[in-house]
Amino acid sequence: MSLLSAARAACRRRVGPNPSLCAALGATRAMSTNPETATDVHARPSFPMMRPEASVPPEEYAKLRKTCPVSKAKLFDGSDIWLITKHRDLVDALRDQRFSKVRTHPDFPELVEGAKAAVEGREPTFVDMDPPDWTRFRGMFERWFAGGYVEKLRPTIRGHVKELLDGMQRASKPVNLHEAFSLPVAFKTIYGILGIPFEDFEFLSNNIAMRSSGSSTARDAAAAQQELVDYMEKLVKEKERNPGNDMLSEIVKNDLRNGNISRDQLIAHAFLLVVAGNATVASMINLGVVELLANPDQLAAFKEDPEACAPGLALEICRFHSASALALRRVALEDVQLGGQTIRKNEGIIALNMSANRDEEVFRNADKFDIRRPEVGEQVAYGAGIHRCIAEYLALVELQEAFKGLFGRFPNIKLAVDESELEWSAPQADVGLKSLPVTW
Ligand code: HEM
Repeated sequence: MSLLSAARAACRRRVGPNPSLCAALGATRAMSTNPETATDVHARPSFPMMRPEASVPPEEYAKLRKTCPVSKAKLFDGSDIWLITKHRDLVDALRDQRFSKVRTHPDFPELVEGAKAAVEGREPTFVDMDPPDWTRFRGMFERWFAGGYVEKLRPTIRGHVKELLDGMQRASKPVNLHEAFSLPVAFKTIYGILGIPFEDFEFLSNNIAMRSSGSSTARDAAAAQQELVDYMEKLVKEKERNPGNDMLSEIVKNDLRNGNISRDQLIAHAFLLVVAGNATVASMINLGVVELLANPDQLAAFKEDPEACAPGLALEICRFHSASALALRRVALEDVQLGGQTIRKNEGIIALNMSANRDEEVFRNADKFDIRRPEVGEQVAYGAGIHRCIAEYLALVELQEAFKGLFGRFPNIKLAVDESELEWSAPQADVGLKSLPVTW
């Protein structure tokens, strides 16, 4: 039996280290925020929980994994949500079709005020569907993200990386790596797949950045969002008039014309794909650079054989800093037993991949960044089950090419500020850097 399967078998035998405490945390009586010293205080912990500093995961995650891996917390509006903190429970939950991803379900857990209204006002995409709708729509897009297709795209991605590095070399130092390199690698790759004309790249990138930036005003963000939707509509109509051989053109020819998908549905999906993963890919590139620079032994290993180390590095950075950590939400369609608790019909869950990715029962020395970690393939940064990220393979290839290109061109690259001066995202938001000043 492999180490991993032995660890898993041991996990399966265990209900939890403290069943009575777990029963209390799951029941109607409420507990303190520290389950190890839990007292009956009629207050569940609030969710999202805060990172104590920089990129360190919230401290509560490790405590909950040990004491009560499936437990309740409170959302901003006072409603309850189940937190799933261990790897095995997360995988079980995400593979269980008794949990729904339909966000218009009245009890689907939302994390911010106004999210429910926003969801109801828009055309749904497969990211928020259950089978059979999910199956039909995801099936139309899947081939552009399959390994074979992405491998054919690898030289193009390498070309984007080279071009961006040329630009960095011409610029005056220090350079903000996030803007000059990490984000454009992601943008250029997805624009190419969708068939967005080169001359629109800048307009689109500015609007996407404006829409997603926490520092934009609500009005600017809403205006940028509307411009993007309008642009996508024009783009789809243009593909109907003059189809090429890109993704949108193929879907127009194969699915729009025969009624498998309506124009509005295609516009909504094109919008989804253009905004879905850019910030996350960019964040992983940034964080990979920061971790390599902070761990000289790992950097030396990577530089010695970048080709061999790049796949492990890309996976390990995604495990170590799960950047899409608040996305794995579901609502129970019937009562489900999970981790010794009963999740009742219509109760919401959030599967915390940032916590599961640090589960010591699966990842040895889980808090160590280790690009040669043998069990890294078990990472759940991209989720699990049917909704597992459609673009996982693509994102990993982007990361591999970005790291190889960057450290190949600038082997002496370093932070242009002290590590303590790096500006991190808000402690309750997905982990990321606001900018990354580098020099060489
Ligand atoms: C490092 C980069 C990325 C990470 C960590 C990531 C993470 C995730 C996660 C955790 C999910 C599962 C959500 C759930 O089960 O509720 C997901 C789904 C998805 N991701 Fe990504 N993602 C990344 C990049 C991308 C990119 C580049 C794209 C688009 C080009 C993309 C498009 C999607 C879509 C469409 C889904 C929905 C899949 C479905 O519901 O069937 N992602 N992603």
